[in-house]
Amino acid sequence: MKIIEAKDYQDLSKIAADYIINKVNSFPKLKLGLATGGTPIGIYKNLIADHQKNGTSYREITTFNLDEYVGLAGHNQNSYRYYMNHHLFDHIDIQKKNTFIPRGDVDNIQSECSAYEDLIQKHKGIDLQILGIGTNGHIGFNEPGTSFKSETHVVNLTASTRMANARYFNSLEEVPTRAITMGIGTIMKSKEIILLISGEQKKEALNRLLTGTVDESFPASALKNHPYVTIIADKAAIAGL
Ligand code: GLP
Repeated sequence: MKIIEAKDYQDLSKIAADYIINKVNSFPKLKLGLATGGTPIGIYKNLIADHQKNGTSYREITTFNLDEYVGLAGHNQNSYRYYMNHHLFDHIDIQKKNTFIPRGDVDNIQSECSAYEDLIQKHKGIDLQILGIGTNGHIGFNEPGTSFKSETHVVNLTASTRMANARYFNSLEEVPTRAITMGIGTIMKSKEIILLISGEQKKEALNRLLTGTVDESFPASALKNHPYVTIIADKAAIAGL
């Protein structure tokens, strides 16, 4: 794993956005894996600013998001579909029909999971996957203990993940208890991965990733078995390690 040290969150966002912009310019049909949460918002702002200023086009790319809450429809402001439209898709020239996110509001969640996995494979996989990390090492919504071979599946969210994400909801009770997520096996099939780690609260996770063993009790450690991972971490996350 290669590590790039960014000065701060702004710098991290700029480095990652520039990397994506270069890829999109070189490979207009890029299949890009996207993440939600607080960390990637700065990247999306940079992509929008660049699109407006320099005209980088996303017309031919296809995107696959990592995850979605079970029970939330796309128009729900806390759904990841809403997040992606709001923070990125509505502001660039991407074709919405080429943006894929698991549907959290379907009757048959199991068949949604296998259909999503098939869809990714039908597109011959993801070229570049952007990832954040949870304080407990989760990637996507793959909580500790998830099999490294897992494909897209339904998960019960841990109390700590629900608490960490409660800031986006009116109350903890409103945070869904389940989510659909790409599996660790799905993520590992991506040709290239960028892992974003920002802020002091992620220092422990970064430390465990760098110094700990490859172990299903720490989902992000699977990435050590991937040939092409770049970590972009800011000073606040790296300091003292
Ligand atoms: C959620 C998302 C993850 C994300 C994590 C960290 O649980 N499902 O994909 O990496 O939050 O979020 P943040 O970037 O807000 O710390």
